[in-house]
Amino acid sequence: MNIAVITGASSGLGREYVKSVYKMYPALEEIWIIARRENKLFELKVELGDKIRIFPIDITDSFAVNQYAEMLKETNANVRLLINNAGFGKLEEFVNISAEDNCGMVRLNCEALTLMTAVTLPFMSYGAEIINTCSIASFAPNTRMAVYSSTKAYVMSLSRALREELKKRQINVLAVCPGPMDTEFLPVANIAKGTSRTFDTLPRVNPKEMAEKSLLASKKKKAVYTNKAFYKFYRFVAKILPMSLVMKMAKT
Ligand SMILES: NC(=O)c1ccc[n+]([C@@H]2O[C@H](COP(=O)([O-])OP(=O)(O)OC[C@H]3O[C@@H](n4cnc5c(N)ncnc54)[C@H](OP(=O)(O)O)[C@@H]3O)[C@@H](O)[C@H]2O)c1
Repeated sequence: MNIAVITGASSGLGREYVKSVYKMYPALEEIWIIARRENKLFELKVELGDKIRIFPIDITDSFAVNQYAEMLKETNANVRLLINNAGFGKLEEFVNISAEDNCGMVRLNCEALTLMTAVTLPFMSYGAEIINTCSIASFAPNTRMAVYSSTKAYVMSLSRALREELKKRQINVLAVCPGPMDTEFLPVANIAKGTSRTFDTLPRVNPKEMAEKSLLASKKKKAVYTNKAFYKFYRFVAKILPMSLVMKMAKT
């Protein structure tokens, strides 16, 4: 059975991924959607129909992820597309963020993404695609987002190395790097108007457009996708200027 798997599917970018994958990959037999809030996943199932299979699980719970992996085996799944999108951030100085949240970001953004990839890869075949939701925060360390930007630097590094390793299986790995999007990410991160001049002024990215365009970039087997000229320019500048200077520019 040919399927797609999408984590963080209950809101924001993940929800848009579900809708776009539904439209752009008509040959898929099922789309497996994962997040903790069952009611939000169920809404998508009601909207899109029987192709949607919901997994209301916490992917930082390895027992739950192993149950998902069992289901891959039981259904003889052939995963054509894995979108590792679940993630969260916090905007504050490191010492003012609880240890639980600092470590929670590492657990979800890095560890769970790695586990999801590890248990899904055996069920992926030639020509399949992996999309990892990264961030512009991966381009340089961000003060007041020290752990978050570090987790996204991990996602970028893992995606690039894995892409090279998986070339022999013709599986592409794409790191998607959105700028700020008006999703639940902002309130979860405690980012409200006035909390950060940088966030107040940065151009907003539309999640629907991000989902559609990054899926096209994945089909073209790209390594990294950022939209908007402003963020493409930032990515370029972050590569060529000294890190200390880039960090001053990117101060949140
Ligand atoms: N919005 C931005 O400004 C922005 C910018 C750059 C990158 N990003 C990245 O984009 C991705 C999507 O974020 P978003 O903006 O769409 O925010 P969002 O609306 O808060 O979505 C986060 C998703 O992750 C799920 N999730 C959180 N913890 C989970 C867990 N333990 N197990 C399973 N699912 C979990 C949430 O669902 P439940 O709560 O139902 O579990 C939700 O579906 C994240 O990786 C984020 O880092 C966001």
